[in-house]
Amino acid sequence: MKKVMVVAVVLILSLAFLGCAQQEQPKTTPKPTATPEKKFDLVTKGVLTVGSDIAYPPFEYTDEKTGKYTGFDVDLMTEIAKRLGLEVKFVNTAWDGIIPGLMAKKYDVICSAMTITEERAKQVDFSNPYFEAKQVILTSASDTSIKGVNDLNGKKVAVQQGTTGDFAAQKLVEKGIKLEIIRFEGTPEALLAIQKGDADAAIIDNFVAYLAAKKDPKTYRVVDDPEFPPEYYGIAVHKDNKGLLKAINEVLEEMKKDGTYDQIYEKWFGKG
Ligand code: ARG
Repeated sequence: MKKVMVVAVVLILSLAFLGCAQQEQPKTTPKPTATPEKKFDLVTKGVLTVGSDIAYPPFEYTDEKTGKYTGFDVDLMTEIAKRLGLEVKFVNTAWDGIIPGLMAKKYDVICSAMTITEERAKQVDFSNPYFEAKQVILTSASDTSIKGVNDLNGKKVAVQQGTTGDFAAQKLVEKGIKLEIIRFEGTPEALLAIQKGDADAAIIDNFVAYLAAKKDPKTYRVVDDPEFPPEYYGIAVHKDNKGLLKAINEVLEEMKKDGTYDQIYEKWFGKG
Protein backbone atom coordinates (compact mmCIF):
# COMPACT_ATOMS: atom_id res chain seq x y z
CA MET A 1 0.00 0.00 0.00
CA LYS A 2 2.78 2.34 0.98
CA LYS A 3 4.54 1.61 -2.34
CA VAL A 4 1.38 2.42 -4.32
CA MET A 5 1.08 5.73 -2.49
CA VAL A 6 4.66 6.67 -3.32
CA VAL A 7 4.18 5.81 -6.98
CA ALA A 8 0.96 7.82 -7.05
CA VAL A 9 2.60 10.85 -5.43
CA VAL A 10 5.51 10.69 -7.86
CA LEU A 11 3.11 10.38 -10.77
CA ILE A 12 1.00 13.33 -9.63
CA LEU A 13 4.08 15.46 -9.03
CA SER A 14 5.62 14.70 -12.39
CA LEU A 15 2.32 15.30 -14.18
CA ALA A 16 2.01 18.63 -12.41
CA PHE A 17 5.58 19.46 -13.37
CA LEU A 18 4.95 18.53 -16.98
CA GLY A 19 1.82 20.64 -16.99
CA CYS A 20 3.75 23.64 -15.73
CA ALA A 21 6.53 23.04 -18.18
CA GLN A 22 4.07 22.90 -21.02
CA GLN A 23 2.40 26.09 -19.90
CA GLU A 24 5.75 27.83 -19.64
CA GLN A 25 6.91 26.84 -23.10
CA PRO A 26 5.14 29.45 -25.23
CA LYS A 27 6.49 32.22 -23.01
CA THR A 28 10.13 31.14 -23.14
CA THR A 29 10.37 30.33 -26.86
CA PRO A 30 8.20 32.70 -28.87
CA LYS A 31 7.81 31.45 -32.43
CA PRO A 32 8.44 33.97 -35.23
CA THR A 33 5.34 35.05 -37.11
CA ALA A 34 4.66 33.04 -40.25
CA THR A 35 5.40 35.86 -42.73
CA PRO A 36 8.61 37.77 -41.92
CA GLU A 37 8.14 41.47 -41.54
CA LYS A 38 9.01 43.46 -44.70
CA LYS A 39 12.25 45.28 -43.97
CA PHE A 40 12.38 47.86 -46.79
CA ASP A 41 10.76 49.02 -50.01
CA LEU A 42 12.30 48.46 -53.43
CA VAL A 43 11.45 49.97 -56.80
CA THR A 44 11.73 46.48 -58.31
CA LYS A 45 11.28 43.36 -56.19
CA GLY A 46 14.53 41.49 -55.57
CA VAL A 47 16.65 44.24 -57.12
CA LEU A 48 18.62 47.09 -55.60
CA THR A 49 18.28 49.83 -58.22
CA VAL A 50 21.11 52.38 -58.05
CA GLY A 51 21.07 55.81 -59.67
CA SER A 52 24.52 57.03 -60.70
CA ASP A 53 26.11 59.50 -63.09
CA ILE A 54 28.34 56.91 -64.71
CA ALA A 55 31.06 59.12 -66.17
CA TYR A 56 33.24 59.53 -63.14
CA PRO A 57 36.26 57.22 -63.13
CA PRO A 58 37.47 55.56 -61.00
CA PHE A 59 34.14 55.57 -59.11
CA GLU A 60 31.69 54.80 -61.92
CA TYR A 61 32.36 54.53 -65.64
CA THR A 62 31.85 52.25 -68.61
CA ASP A 63 34.64 49.78 -69.30
CA GLU A 64 35.66 50.43 -72.92
CA LYS A 65 36.45 46.79 -73.60
CA THR A 66 33.45 45.07 -72.02
CA GLY A 67 30.92 47.89 -72.30
CA LYS A 68 30.00 47.16 -68.67
CA TYR A 69 29.68 49.58 -65.78
CA THR A 70 32.63 49.38 -63.44
CA GLY A 71 34.41 51.33 -60.70
CA PHE A 72 34.76 51.53 -56.95
CA ASP A 73 31.10 52.46 -56.36
CA VAL A 74 29.94 49.70 -58.71
CA ASP A 75 31.92 47.08 -56.80
CA LEU A 76 30.76 48.49 -53.48
CA MET A 77 27.06 48.45 -54.40
CA THR A 78 27.31 45.03 -56.03
CA GLU A 79 28.66 43.62 -52.77
CA ILE A 80 26.09 45.47 -50.66
CA ALA A 81 23.25 44.14 -52.83
CA LYS A 82 24.65 40.62 -52.66
CA ARG A 83 24.72 40.74 -48.88
CA LEU A 84 21.11 41.96 -48.84
CA GLY A 85 20.15 39.03 -51.04
CA LEU A 86 19.40 41.31 -53.99
CA GLU A 87 20.45 41.74 -57.60
CA VAL A 88 22.01 45.09 -58.43
CA LYS A 89 20.97 47.32 -61.31
CA PHE A 90 22.63 50.62 -62.19
CA VAL A 91 20.61 53.37 -63.84
CA ASN A 92 22.81 55.92 -65.60
CA THR A 93 21.47 59.31 -64.59
CA ALA A 94 22.55 62.88 -65.31
CA TRP A 95 23.94 64.54 -62.18
CA ASP A 96 21.53 67.40 -62.57
CA GLY A 97 18.31 65.71 -61.46
CA ILE A 98 19.87 62.75 -59.68
CA ILE A 99 18.35 63.72 -56.30
CA PRO A 100 14.89 64.50 -57.75
CA GLY A 101 15.08 61.05 -59.41
CA LEU A 102 15.56 59.41 -56.02
CA MET A 103 12.76 61.46 -54.51
CA ALA A 104 10.51 60.35 -57.39
CA LYS A 105 11.51 56.74 -56.61
CA LYS A 106 13.12 56.03 -59.98
CA TYR A 107 15.79 54.11 -58.06
CA ASP A 108 16.30 52.95 -54.49
CA VAL A 109 19.60 54.67 -53.77
CA ILE A 110 22.17 57.02 -55.27
CA CYS A 111 25.75 55.85 -55.27
CA SER A 112 27.71 58.32 -57.37
CA ALA A 113 30.69 59.59 -55.37
CA MET A 114 28.12 61.88 -53.77
CA THR A 115 29.42 64.08 -50.99
CA ILE A 116 27.26 64.27 -47.89
CA THR A 117 26.20 67.90 -47.54
CA GLU A 118 23.76 69.62 -45.21
CA GLU A 119 21.70 70.92 -48.13
CA ARG A 120 21.36 67.48 -49.71
CA ALA A 121 20.60 65.87 -46.35
CA LYS A 122 17.44 68.00 -46.19
CA GLN A 123 16.13 66.08 -49.20
CA VAL A 124 17.59 62.59 -48.78
CA ASP A 125 19.06 60.40 -46.05
CA PHE A 126 22.72 59.46 -46.26
CA SER A 127 24.37 56.23 -45.18
CA ASN A 128 27.37 56.43 -42.92
CA PRO A 129 30.34 57.85 -44.85
CA TYR A 130 32.02 55.29 -47.11
CA PHE A 131 34.86 57.34 -48.61
CA GLU A 132 36.92 60.41 -47.75
CA ALA A 133 37.69 62.87 -50.54
CA LYS A 134 38.42 66.56 -51.10
CA GLN A 135 38.48 69.09 -53.90
CA VAL A 136 41.66 69.78 -55.85
CA ILE A 137 42.58 71.95 -58.79
CA LEU A 138 43.20 70.15 -62.05
CA THR A 139 45.09 72.28 -64.51
CA SER A 140 46.97 72.03 -67.75
CA ALA A 141 50.33 70.24 -67.48
CA SER A 142 51.95 73.00 -69.52
CA ASP A 143 50.62 75.79 -67.31
CA THR A 144 52.90 76.26 -64.32
CA SER A 145 51.31 79.50 -63.13
CA ILE A 146 48.64 77.84 -60.96
CA LYS A 147 50.05 76.74 -57.60
CA GLY A 148 47.03 77.26 -55.37
CA VAL A 149 43.56 78.80 -55.16
CA ASN A 150 44.82 82.37 -55.18
CA ASP A 151 46.32 81.82 -58.63
CA LEU A 152 42.83 81.14 -59.99
CA ASN A 153 42.25 84.90 -59.96
CA GLY A 154 41.33 85.96 -63.49
CA LYS A 155 41.16 82.33 -64.68
CA LYS A 156 38.43 80.28 -66.28
CA VAL A 157 37.50 77.39 -64.02
CA ALA A 158 35.51 74.41 -65.28
CA VAL A 159 33.21 72.49 -62.92
CA GLN A 160 30.48 69.89 -63.16
CA GLN A 161 27.32 71.82 -62.39
CA GLY A 162 25.85 71.24 -58.94
CA THR A 163 28.85 69.39 -57.55
CA THR A 164 30.89 70.30 -54.52
CA GLY A 165 33.54 71.49 -57.01
CA ASP A 166 30.99 74.02 -58.27
CA PHE A 167 30.19 75.07 -54.68
CA ALA A 168 33.89 75.37 -53.82
CA ALA A 169 34.46 77.61 -56.87
CA GLN A 170 31.54 79.82 -55.78
CA LYS A 171 33.06 80.09 -52.31
CA LEU A 172 36.37 81.28 -53.77
CA VAL A 173 34.48 83.97 -55.70
CA GLU A 174 32.77 85.04 -52.48
CA LYS A 175 36.20 85.30 -50.90
CA GLY A 176 37.20 87.77 -53.58
CA ILE A 177 39.13 85.53 -55.97
CA LYS A 178 37.88 86.74 -59.34
CA LEU A 179 37.56 83.56 -61.35
CA GLU A 180 35.07 82.76 -64.06
CA ILE A 181 33.08 79.57 -63.44
CA ILE A 182 32.24 77.54 -66.55
CA ARG A 183 29.63 74.91 -65.74
CA PHE A 184 29.28 71.59 -67.55
CA GLU A 185 26.66 68.90 -67.20
CA GLY A 186 29.27 66.17 -66.82
CA THR A 187 32.82 65.93 -65.51
CA PRO A 188 34.28 64.57 -68.81
CA GLU A 189 33.26 67.82 -70.56
CA ALA A 190 34.95 69.87 -67.84
CA LEU A 191 38.18 67.90 -68.33
CA LEU A 192 37.94 68.28 -72.09
CA ALA A 193 37.65 72.05 -71.68
CA ILE A 194 41.11 72.11 -70.07
CA GLN A 195 42.53 69.97 -72.85
CA LYS A 196 41.06 72.26 -75.51
CA GLY A 197 42.22 75.38 -73.71
CA ASP A 198 38.66 76.60 -73.12
CA ALA A 199 39.31 76.51 -69.37
CA ASP A 200 42.49 77.10 -67.35
CA ALA A 201 41.60 74.68 -64.60
CA ALA A 202 38.87 72.60 -63.04
CA ILE A 203 37.88 72.07 -59.42
CA ILE A 204 36.99 68.43 -58.93
CA ASP A 205 37.24 65.50 -56.52
CA ASN A 206 40.82 64.48 -55.79
CA PHE A 207 40.81 60.85 -56.94
CA VAL A 208 39.11 61.73 -60.22
CA ALA A 209 41.80 64.36 -60.83
CA TYR A 210 44.64 62.01 -59.83
CA LEU A 211 43.45 59.41 -62.32
CA ALA A 212 43.09 61.93 -65.16
CA ALA A 213 46.64 63.20 -64.54
CA LYS A 214 48.01 59.68 -64.21
CA LYS A 215 46.43 58.58 -67.49
CA ASP A 216 47.39 61.71 -69.35
CA PRO A 217 50.32 63.45 -67.62
CA LYS A 218 51.11 65.49 -70.73
CA THR A 219 47.70 67.16 -70.50
CA TYR A 220 46.85 67.40 -66.81
CA ARG A 221 48.47 68.36 -63.53
CA VAL A 222 46.94 68.27 -60.04
CA VAL A 223 47.32 71.11 -57.57
CA ASP A 224 46.31 70.40 -54.02
CA ASP A 225 45.40 73.31 -51.74
CA PRO A 226 44.66 73.01 -48.00
CA GLU A 227 41.92 75.57 -48.57
CA PHE A 228 39.63 72.68 -49.55
CA PRO A 229 38.30 70.70 -46.56
CA PRO A 230 37.72 66.94 -46.41
CA GLU A 231 34.44 65.62 -47.81
CA TYR A 232 32.71 62.30 -47.24
CA TYR A 233 30.78 60.25 -49.76
CA GLY A 234 27.52 58.66 -48.70
CA ILE A 235 24.89 56.43 -50.28
CA ALA A 236 21.68 58.44 -50.56
CA VAL A 237 18.36 56.79 -49.67
CA HIS A 238 14.79 58.09 -49.85
CA LYS A 239 13.68 59.60 -46.55
CA ASP A 240 10.69 57.20 -46.50
CA ASN A 241 12.96 54.17 -46.62
CA LYS A 242 14.63 54.06 -43.19
CA GLY A 243 14.65 50.25 -43.28
CA LEU A 244 16.86 50.25 -46.37
CA LEU A 245 19.14 52.89 -44.86
CA LYS A 246 19.58 50.76 -41.74
CA ALA A 247 20.23 47.60 -43.76
CA ILE A 248 22.86 49.38 -45.90
CA ASN A 249 24.61 50.78 -42.84
CA GLU A 250 24.71 47.34 -41.22
CA VAL A 251 26.16 45.71 -44.33
CA LEU A 252 28.71 48.53 -44.79
CA GLU A 253 29.83 48.08 -41.20
CA GLU A 254 30.14 44.32 -41.73
CA MET A 255 32.22 44.89 -44.89
CA LYS A 256 34.53 47.26 -43.04
CA LYS A 257 35.00 44.72 -40.25
CA ASP A 258 35.61 41.63 -42.37
CA GLY A 259 38.10 43.28 -44.76
CA THR A 260 35.88 43.30 -47.86
CA TYR A 261 35.79 47.09 -47.92
CA ASP A 262 39.59 47.23 -47.81
CA GLN A 263 39.80 44.69 -50.61
CA ILE A 264 37.62 46.82 -52.87
CA TYR A 265 39.52 49.95 -51.85
CA GLU A 266 42.88 48.38 -52.66
CA LYS A 267 41.63 47.14 -56.01
CA TRP A 268 40.95 50.72 -57.10
CA PHE A 269 43.38 52.83 -55.09
CA GLY A 270 46.14 50.51 -53.96
CA LYS A 271 47.21 50.12 -50.38
CA GLY A 272 46.36 53.43 -48.69
N1 ARG B 1 31.61 64.54 -54.86
C1 ARG B 1 31.07 65.55 -55.69
C2 ARG B 1 29.68 65.93 -55.22
O1 ARG B 1 29.08 65.20 -54.50
C3 ARG B 1 31.03 65.18 -57.16
C4 ARG B 1 30.32 63.92 -57.47
C5 ARG B 1 30.07 63.74 -58.94
N2 ARG B 1 29.70 62.40 -59.22
C6 ARG B 1 29.52 61.93 -60.46
N3 ARG B 1 29.29 60.65 -60.61
N4 ARG B 1 29.62 62.74 -61.48
O2 ARG B 1 29.15 66.95 -55.54
